[in-house]
Amino acid sequence: MNQDELKALVGQAALHYVTPGSIVGVGTGSTVDKFIDALAASGIAIEGAVSSSVRSTERMKALGIRIFEASQVESLPVYIDGADEIDHAGHMIKGGGAALTREKIVADLAAQFICIADESKLVNVLGRFPLPVEVIPMAAAQIARRFTAMGGDAQLRAGCVTDNGCHILDVRGLAINDPVGFEAEVSAWPGVVTVGVFARNKAAVCLLGTSAGVKTLSF
Ligand code: A5P
Repeated sequence: MNQDELKALVGQAALHYVTPGSIVGVGTGSTVDKFIDALAASGIAIEGAVSSSVRSTERMKALGIRIFEASQVESLPVYIDGADEIDHAGHMIKGGGAALTREKIVADLAAQFICIADESKLVNVLGRFPLPVEVIPMAAAQIARRFTAMGGDAQLRAGCVTDNGCHILDVRGLAINDPVGFEAEVSAWPGVVTVGVFARNKAAVCLLGTSAGVKTLSF
């Protein structure tokens, strides 16, 4: 099976976590696109979705799924999203698509984060994928220096302005051995909007697409 087929497989498997009549939190990316398509084709009557990006909102609207603002709901039963990396404890790196801030906000509303990913995303230690960090533009240089002091190499993502009018630093060369501590520390630096480590609120379940089928990892 190729990567695209593995993404379709886990997108389909995620339907198991969708309760009819509920509002579903929906993330962003090529794997989530497969989930959105499967949801629309399934005939499961949901009330609607809270979306983490313009990209997912447009796809869902085109398929007749009603969109709610995050501010209109108090909680969500599930948030379904992909990841750039996930470790064996359910900690993730996200933000490859620059939507990390909205993703963290919507994920925080949800009782359960269901991660859908193909097996190439599973790692022992987070950090091989360049870590996205959304920053207030005036603080970018000083935040980059802090990462240098940690042994990382932070580069501004060229031409990228986020949905929130901010910039993204991609940080290479980090081995994130303590994701919870790392997320807490970097989140406290002035000018950091969101760090792309999702550890405090990690995945509850990962549906991993493998050549042998969908593997369910529960954390
Ligand atoms: C978006 O900002 C990211 O967090 C995505 O969840 C991540 O990039 C996964 O995308 P793919 O499903 O396209 O790999």
